[in-house]
Formats: sequence, structure tokens, C-alpha cells
Amino acid sequence: MCKPCKDISTVGFICPMDCELDAVRRLLEKTETVRYAGMDFYKGSIAGHSAVAVKCGVGKVFAAMAAEAMILGFSPDLIINTGVAGNLADGLSIGDVVVSSSVVQHDMDTSPLGDPVGLISGINKVYLESDADASALMCRVLDSLGIRYVQGVVASGDQFVATQEKRDFIRQAFGAACCEMEGAAVGQVCYASGVRFLILRALSDDANGHSPDDFPAYCVKVSETSSKVIAAFMKAIPTL
Ligand code: ADE
Repeated sequence: MCKPCKDISTVGFICPMDCELDAVRRLLEKTETVRYAGMDFYKGSIAGHSAVAVKCGVGKVFAAMAAEAMILGFSPDLIINTGVAGNLADGLSIGDVVVSSSVVQHDMDTSPLGDPVGLISGINKVYLESDADASALMCRVLDSLGIRYVQGVVASGDQFVATQEKRDFIRQAFGAACCEMEGAAVGQVCYASGVRFLILRALSDDANGHSPDDFPAYCVKVSETSSKVIAAFMKAIPTL
């Protein structure tokens, strides 16, 4: 059974790049820009729900900073990290989407001390679960829009994955559907703060060294798709 929608009053969006932020900003109504913790946060509403969006920049540290600042400054009930990712899943191709079931840091490794690869010391977990209800709702939204997707593990690390060897390692070690550079950092901050989170990524490459010829043009295209998905998700929140 769905939880009542009153649980979600503000949705936060954390986007690594401008084109990804634009996908959210073009949906925001009654926007106000608030400078907080050295970042510009764009506050407004989408489909009648409060929303706040920020560009974090590339990599886990920037993503964690943005998540922490957003939580402290804007109290979101759900944080969604959107962007592009490298494809690791069979049956998906460039332009398809991955919705997180959980996140993992593929470059976290204290295995010389006897830990499993990917273990976050202190928390003692390898995988951090996304909000199951938000993830299921996002899947329903993608179904309704006819967009091909997989719900699975999103693997993050501070490197652009571009070799078959690294790709195979992340797939085999973590069963990941895609790799990117921010989602698991957002997930860890949310986990530590008790805030729900979800990662939504459009596939831009196969993480094997072959990127689309025109990456900026690809980002603009993805941004248009992201806008459609986010608008439909925000409309559907009352069913969450
Ligand atoms: N974002 C988009 N493609 C990526 C890749 N191959 N590795 C890491 N982050 C990415």
C-alpha cells in the first residue's frame, strides 16, 4: 500500500552539470535563488510541490557538500540525484535510464584490512538502499512515458570509467547497472541524515572508452528527457 503523500513536501534535486540542472530549472515555478554554503539553490514549485535544485559539480566530495547543505538549509523530504552515467547493464543502450535500488562506492576499498570491497567503515555497509517507494514510483513514471530503464545498483567513484577492465570489475564486484561519480556520496549523506534519496541517470556511454561523438549535444537531449520524467514524477507524487 502507498504511504500518504504528505510525507513528501519538498523534493531536492542535486545535479552535477549545468545541462542537468537546466532540466529541473525549466520546470520550477515562482523561482527564488538562495545563496547558501557557497552554492546557488533554486527554490520554487513543480506540479504544486515545493522543490529545490542545486548544481553540485563533478565528483563525490562536491556531491556530498551539496547534499549536506541542501539538508541543513532546505530540509528536503526526498533528494533526487539526476544526471548521466556509463552503462554497465545488458540490454540497455545510450539514452536509456537507470533508477537506483541502491548505491555503492566502487572506489571505496579497505580490503587490505579484511573488509569486503566497497564497505563504508563506520556504517558497516557496502550498499545503501534508495527509498523503495520513490524508486517504484519513478519506474511507473518511466513505464508510462515508454522510456526503457533498469532498476538497479548505481556505482559511484571519483573516476570516469573508460576501460573494459574497470567496467568488468564494477559489474562483477557490485552487480551495478551503471557507473557515475556522485550518486553514492549523495546516498551516504542522506543515509547519515535519515533523508530519503533516489538516483536517476540517463546513459551517455558504455563506460569502455567510446563516448557519444557530440557529448554536449547529447547532454541537451538528455536534459529534455529528464525534464519530462521529473515533471511526470512530481505530478505522480500524490500516489507515493
Ligand atoms: N558519467 C557518464 N559516463 C560516465 C562514466 N563512464 N564513468 C563515470 N561517470 C560517468
